[in-house]
Amino acid sequence: MSESFKDFENRKKDHIRLALHDSTQGLVKSGFNQIRLIHQALPEINFSDVSLTVSLLGSEFASPHFVSSMTAGHEDSLQINLRLARAAQKKNWLMGVGSQRRELTDDTAAAEWKKIKLEFPDLKLVSNIGISELIQQPLEKILLLVENLGSVGIFVHLNSLQEVFQNKDEAIFAGGLKAIENLVKKSTVPVLVKEVGFGISKEITEKLFAIGVKVVDVTGNGGTHWGQIEASRSHEDSTLENAINAFHDWGNSAIDCLLDLQEQVLFHQVWASGGIRNGVDSAKCLALGARAVGVAQPLMKAAMVSEAEVIKVMELFDFQLKTAMFCMGIRKYEDFLHKKVWYVAK
Ligand SMILES: Cc1cc2nc3c(=O)[nH]c(=O)nc-3n(C[C@H](O)[C@H](O)[C@H](O)COP(=O)(O)O)c2cc1C
Repeated sequence: MSESFKDFENRKKDHIRLALHDSTQGLVKSGFNQIRLIHQALPEINFSDVSLTVSLLGSEFASPHFVSSMTAGHEDSLQINLRLARAAQKKNWLMGVGSQRRELTDDTAAAEWKKIKLEFPDLKLVSNIGISELIQQPLEKILLLVENLGSVGIFVHLNSLQEVFQNKDEAIFAGGLKAIENLVKKSTVPVLVKEVGFGISKEITEKLFAIGVKVVDVTGNGGTHWGQIEASRSHEDSTLENAINAFHDWGNSAIDCLLDLQEQVLFHQVWASGGIRNGVDSAKCLALGARAVGVAQPLMKAAMVSEAEVIKVMELFDFQLKTAMFCMGIRKYEDFLHKKVWYVAK
């Protein structure tokens, strides 16, 4: 039976509460520690020479950082999304919106985004829908999500582990690649594919690029653990709470994914997210060829406080990244593709 709107709202609220809790964060630590960036004692550039400006999805942004897709469709989300949107517009970051699933069955759900679009006409947003909905819903409805939002792209999120712990009967994934291919054929904007924190392998990445997907965001582990979040919600089912313990280090980190994709990063837009907790993490991803880096939980935490707090976090991440680039002698992010500035720690 499909869940009621009340249950949907409660689930979304639980997600935020649990995503801010330590028990769902950083359950694996290995990913980022294994990469060392090479310090250039004589960088031969000035700090002011370093530019974070990037071109993504046909637009210019002030930073390769972007707001990773987060929550929508419940009573508190308008305020949260307004804070994120205001900050993203001010700092000129790209912003992914949370799943637009509710808009598929509730016409009023799009109103939240209409308000945001009206207030921030220049803000560049990326739509978001889960693979299960993409498989099961008529394509016309999915295409409308882009139209309603006026977005510059659409993220399809892959979340097999999360779905099992949320409701295993709704873990509908058969036919996923074909559904993405159909979306690519009909979409007027680029199709992007992300995970929610367990990584996307080289094999799947190659298949996605082969059918015309424009961006693969590898979304690795080490940050928010969506299996743990769903298991923590299932108080009445201790089997799930026990079962999740075996999955604490499931999946691959963004770093492991990027190490596997060293050929693909030269020719394709590979983005990274999952466990990005400071601008040095971002520098490591860019050094390994990612063209953009997504941040979720730290921005949600800040958005629960104020817009000023979100801006503070964005400025901190950008400053750390710029400092790391300066200390590596990197002027702009494209230079990462031509200069190897990292090694795997022994
Ligand atoms: C509160 C919250 C809500 C989220 N909702 C969505 C969503 O609707 N769609 C989606 O693709 N990912 C969603 N995510 C996943 C993030 O986009 C991201 O992939 C994941 O949390 C890993 O990044 P992090 O370690 O920086 O949190 C959400 C994350 C958070 C923290």
